[in-house]
Amino acid sequence: MPYFVKYIKHLHMKTGTKLILTAVFGLMVMGFQAKAEDFPAEIKPLMQKYTCFACHKVDARLVGPAYQDVAKKKYSVEKIVSLIAKPQPSNWPGYPPMAPMTNVPKDDAVKIAKWINSLR
Ligand code: HEC
Repeated sequence: MPYFVKYIKHLHMKTGTKLILTAVFGLMVMGFQAKAEDFPAEIKPLMQKYTCFACHKVDARLVGPAYQDVAKKKYSVEKIVSLIAKPQPSNWPGYPPMAPMTNVPKDDAVKIAKWINSLR
């Protein structure tokens, strides 16, 4: 049982209120997981570790472009690796600038870049 259900059970409230709270928290938790769930198993931990999933989805615009749309740009793996560390916002008019993700080690960035290019 998720921890919040136990927590809510101990609150002194009417059963109806408890049910609503449980439903709301449950949907929030599910919504959060659903985003990361879109990524394949080998990429998901990287998306979570470096928080990429907060701004990028596989097939739809979020804060940043869908990775499928990045794939359409036909960058080399090297180019994507350098764009992760040093984004060029002029490549994406109409989007806010991405912060440089300099905390991603090269080998992880290469894994992500190869996966993005596999979406073509
Ligand atoms: C805070 C939101 C945010 C986070 C976190 C984020 N991005 Fe981005 N990303 C953007 C936005 C916005 C753009 C488009 C504007 C730009 O490139 O500056 C973008 C663009 C990109 C591009 C295309 C670059 C280009 O010039 O075509 C790649 C590749 C990319 N992101 C990969 C990543 C990866 C990998 C991570 C995690 C390590 C990540 N992003 C984390 C918001 C984010």
